[in-house]
Amino acid sequence: MILQTFVEIPALDAFRLSLFSAGKKLAFVPTMGALHEGHISLVKQARQNADAVIASIFVNPSQFGPGEDFNRYPRTLTEDAARLAEAGCDAVFLPNLVTIYPDNFQTWVRNEVLENDLCGASRPGHFRGVLTVVLKLLNLVRPDVALFGKKDYQQWRLIEKMVDDLNVPVKILGGETVREPDGLAMSSRNRYLQDGERPAAVAISRGLKAALEKFRSGELKVQVLLDLASKEFAAQPTIKVEYLAICEQASLAPVKESISGAAVILVAARLGELRLIDNMELNPVG
Ligand code: PAF
Repeated sequence: MILQTFVEIPALDAFRLSLFSAGKKLAFVPTMGALHEGHISLVKQARQNADAVIASIFVNPSQFGPGEDFNRYPRTLTEDAARLAEAGCDAVFLPNLVTIYPDNFQTWVRNEVLENDLCGASRPGHFRGVLTVVLKLLNLVRPDVALFGKKDYQQWRLIEKMVDDLNVPVKILGGETVREPDGLAMSSRNRYLQDGERPAAVAISRGLKAALEKFRSGELKVQVLLDLASKEFAAQPTIKVEYLAICEQASLAPVKESISGAAVILVAARLGELRLIDNMELNPVG
């Protein structure tokens, strides 16, 4: 498939209008590039939900904090374009910095409840940057459907909430986390893993899986499930857990004592320079 590439807004508008006038549905997969199988599965899911698929690649400076990896974030445009084309993506939007943040840019989107919890606690301003860029991209692309990976669970929920609160006319879909054969959740930052760090990285998903399996066997007590996951992490001294929590799936409010509805266990941990996040949904059976 030939991948159309748009850098400027008028070319993107023309693409959008041609689909609109033909009555075709457009699905959108926003990314920061350095694409992996998780992104590709979103593109494939997008194909099943629309007539045409567009991705974007924009490494958004406002979602990186001071000292984070904005400058060294992997930029692999040629490989990304080839992977998108192969996955059946029709177009990619590659906005430049001034398109997204023109001079004198002043308006930011914030969620005043959820943005400082979980990942927001250690990444102040991160979700303000994410929500702002996502709203801008949605306004520029005007898709019918937009897809986000559930690996970034809090991000996905915050985007759903923004779209709902601000009446943005788009349907948000979440894509399942894609994992390496050893269980490690795919992430563009996995390439930062140093030799010898893999066993510790893999313990993150193993801990969550231990909790998930115990939950499936009928255990509902939050502390029991958290202790089980923590035991796996503690066996790897290089893992520094930032948070481990069981929350309600939709609101991300912490579940107290016992699980009674759809929940999710979420973790963020540091492994040397690398910060890893992962989660697994704890869905009630029956
Ligand atoms: O998940 C990402 O890659 C980014 O946070 C997103 C949604 C593309 C916004 O920059």
